Amino acid sequence: MDEIVKEILFPRAAIQKRVRELADQISKDYAGRELVIIGVLKGAFIFMADLVREISVPCRVDFTRLASYGAGSDSSGKVVMTKDIETSIKGKDILIVEDILDTGLTLQYVVNWLKERNPNSLKICVFLDKRKRRKVSFEADYVGFTIDDGFVVGYGLDFNEKYRFSPDIYVIKQ
Ligand code: PRP
Repeated sequence: MDEIVKEILFPRAAIQKRVRELADQISKDYAGRELVIIGVLKGAFIFMADLVREISVPCRVDFTRLASYGAGSDSSGKVVMTKDIETSIKGKDILIVEDILDTGLTLQYVVNWLKERNPNSLKICVFLDKRKRRKVSFEADYVGFTIDDGFVVGYGLDFNEKYRFSPDIYVIKQ
């Protein structure tokens, strides 16, 4: 973890606390219903694993894979789906889980594509929201933390595929 200069942004205790709060809110909002939770790989895998273990309503899980970044820290602006979900979502209550909402291009693509399959409802849960970086008008329904611009790693987020494993979230000092 010492190859780049970085400082801690969210320590693991703060992350765990916020995940529990999000899960409590989601559990209240979906009381008496069943959820299909769809994670967007790769970044969402740790957040989603923590979130589903705190949610008290029954849920099924599935994953899609989209890529919007090339190597490095800047978005290319192009979204490519490389893995479809395997669950029929028609008439189901869907929660999409993402590690970070940045330009909004990835989630806009996912939402438009999944809505074509006629779910009963579709909401978005992101752990981090870089609101000021939006290129399209898009808001998540559940947000862990809103952050400023700056490149963050850890808790699923990578820099050239490194640092995803970190239990804490760091900001890279450019
Ligand atoms: C990251 C992140 C989101 C997306 C957000 O994924 O996980 O999916 O970028 O950016 P946007 O709002 O500007 O579209 P990335 O393409 O880096 O792939 P990864 O999840 O495999 O790290």
